Amino acid sequence: MRNRFQDKVVVITGGAGSVGSCTAKMFLQEGAKVVLADSSKQAQSYIADWKQEGYDCTFISTDVTDYHQVEALIKSTVDLYGRVDVLFTAAGLHHDNPCHELTPENWDQLIAVNLSGTFYANKYAIVQMLKQGSGTIVNSCSVFGIVGAEGLTGYAAAMGAVKTMSRSIAVTYADKGIRVNSVCPGTIDSPTVGELTGKSKQELIADHPAGRLGTPEEVAKCVLFLASDKASFVSGTELVMDGGYKAQ
Ligand SMILES: NC(=O)c1ccc[n+]([C@@H]2O[C@H](COP(=O)([O-])OP(=O)(O)OC[C@H]3O[C@@H](n4cnc5c(N)ncnc54)[C@H](O)[C@@H]3O)[C@@H](O)[C@H]2O)c1
Repeated sequence: MRNRFQDKVVVITGGAGSVGSCTAKMFLQEGAKVVLADSSKQAQSYIADWKQEGYDCTFISTDVTDYHQVEALIKSTVDLYGRVDVLFTAAGLHHDNPCHELTPENWDQLIAVNLSGTFYANKYAIVQMLKQGSGTIVNSCSVFGIVGAEGLTGYAAAMGAVKTMSRSIAVTYADKGIRVNSVCPGTIDSPTVGELTGKSKQELIADHPAGRLGTPEEVAKCVLFLASDKASFVSGTELVMDGGYKAQ
């Protein structure tokens, strides 16, 4: 299983986050060159540590809500490494509110980062992947992009749209050597746990039949599977990994 991504070039938006950084490390451990894109400078310290460990990786400061910056991210990646083999979109905001309380400004932010940012990254990565005739994309989605949850509005809207957008992009480019899928986690044990739903950690654990929350490592393993040749005929679908949450 090791080195499935030897010399592959991987771009991760939201690469400073819990899931993005964990996934980046796993790609590096399997031989990839990784570009970490985030609006947070936290990514720089990850990159410094990983370079010390001998990995080939780069931080490119990127606000995914600005399509010029996302276009520049892909261009800089190609200037640096020559291609883009894998895109993993993991930039996201986790605050939401019941419909009557969600402000139009917060709605706009959620849509701008979680949906438009995902579209921009897909768009410019695909422009490059079409030139190469190959590439694979994994978009971060959520079980809350599939089923309803109390109190959610903008996050659910954005994630539902990411899911269906990913399917259509997959259909459009399936015969061009480009695969597109989404990963849909249940609640992940991370510093932002509870931020989205306002529930306590114990309440969230009780919601999951597995009796625990997921881990960033478990999300990363699913992302690497979808991005790998092991999933060579997998496109236009969602990998739900939620400890049984959605099956109830
Ligand atoms: N954590 C969970 O429980 C969970 C569950 C299901 C789905 N997800 C989804 O997985 C993805 C990653 O989640 P996470 O737990 O790592 O979140 P996180 O908050 O740890 O990381 C998100 C990252 O996105 C970055 N970001 C925010 N706005 C940005 C912008 N405008 N431009 C560039 N970067 C920006 C942040 O700086 C942060 O590093 C998100 O899309 C999230 O919605 C998370």
